[in-house]
Amino acid sequence: MSCYVVKGGNRLSGEVNISGAKNAVLPILAAASIQNETTLKNVPFLSDVSNTLQIIRELGLNVVTENNTVNISGKVTNTIINKFLSQKMRSSILFLGAILGKCQEVTIFEPGGCKLGERPIDLHIWAMEKLGAKITKKDDEIICKGKLKGTQINMPIVSVGVTENIIMAAINAEGITIINNCAKEPEIDDLILYLNECGNNIERKNSTIIITPTKTKNYTTHCIIPDRIEAATFMAMAAATKGELFLKNLNPNHLNSILNLFQKMGCIIKTDIDKIYIETPYKIYSPPNIVTKPYPNFPTDFQPQIMSVLSTSQGCCVIKETLFSSRNKHISELKKMGANIEIIDETTFEINGVDLLYGAEVTAKDLRGGAALIISALSAEGESKINGIEHIIRGYENICTKIENIGGIIKLDKNR
Ligand code: UD1
Repeated sequence: MSCYVVKGGNRLSGEVNISGAKNAVLPILAAASIQNETTLKNVPFLSDVSNTLQIIRELGLNVVTENNTVNISGKVTNTIINKFLSQKMRSSILFLGAILGKCQEVTIFEPGGCKLGERPIDLHIWAMEKLGAKITKKDDEIICKGKLKGTQINMPIVSVGVTENIIMAAINAEGITIINNCAKEPEIDDLILYLNECGNNIERKNSTIIITPTKTKNYTTHCIIPDRIEAATFMAMAAATKGELFLKNLNPNHLNSILNLFQKMGCIIKTDIDKIYIETPYKIYSPPNIVTKPYPNFPTDFQPQIMSVLSTSQGCCVIKETLFSSRNKHISELKKMGANIEIIDETTFEINGVDLLYGAEVTAKDLRGGAALIISALSAEGESKINGIEHIIRGYENICTKIENIGGIIKLDKNR
């Protein structure tokens, strides 16, 4: 199994180009499988993206890739989503709404993805039933059929994936669908923008989304929005190594909660329309508490990485994770590097900053937890080995090259 070998202690400085957003491209790829021909630009080449493209090929569509561009054309001829690939990533559930709405049937499988505790798909199923689907389960196979009818759906909790699934199903339903209490992530707005460019009629007003089905479908070229979590991860690397970075090709407005936090901690932040500059003084200070919540609040997808920064900041911070019941598997690994973190309960963690972390052999158990280990390894004294890197390449494009370009020492070791 491959691992990363990181030599810590270098202060990172320089420029980083931010890639397209993983969480925007995955739903847009599912949506593109039921539109007319589409060309997508700024597509990050991640293992989740290659697996999604393979699902699309097996649906019967043509997929052509070149650099960061993907062209998708043709029509769906198979409505069974590949089981093996579904079990590799949770976002495979997004084909449920898209294919069911378009083809009036789809067979999906319980999805995989990061093990962050209970991640049910009950609300995805519930929403499709509300739209009129008949769903039967046979072992891990979920067979969904029916001509969908527009309706009003009041979401009992805010969910990114369920909001996206309803939108993709409702564009091919009969009549208008209204979603109340929907999620507001920028990645959902990118999906809506793409679908509207294709000729659909979707409108978001705060927490309500209205989908009016249309017949027009245009050839579309769409550019994926930048990855705000990748940008935040590089800011965390700058903060943890007392470095300074210029991040380019991003949207600072998508990062307000994170920029505010770094500023409160003592970092100097400057923003331009598509750039962020971060400079870290010798000492930064922990805020008293951080609570993860749906956008525009502090994102759960940045909880492990900020924990790495807090591990060597001055003071004590309590993190409350409110989205996932066991997004805590990075903690045991950070402790191996000398971090002082107390697990108060499965979702509450107290981090007391120490002066220095030390290199260690650690294992990534999920994507963002893996990113946290890289951040800490870069700031630590000595060498670290990071196993479980298959989780990290699911969500970070060319991460080693990007880190090496700003002065970090990280090597892929293929022989371990
Ligand atoms: C998306 C993101 C993921 C991020 C998460 C929360 C993608 C591809 N992934 O995941 O990176 O961590 O949003 O910001 O965009 N829930 C249920 N039943 C369901 C569905 C969800 O109870 O049927 C719960 C979840 O367990 C969780 C909460 O709803 O507690 C929110 O999860 P959700 O927003 O659905 O996350 P994902 O769309 O899976």
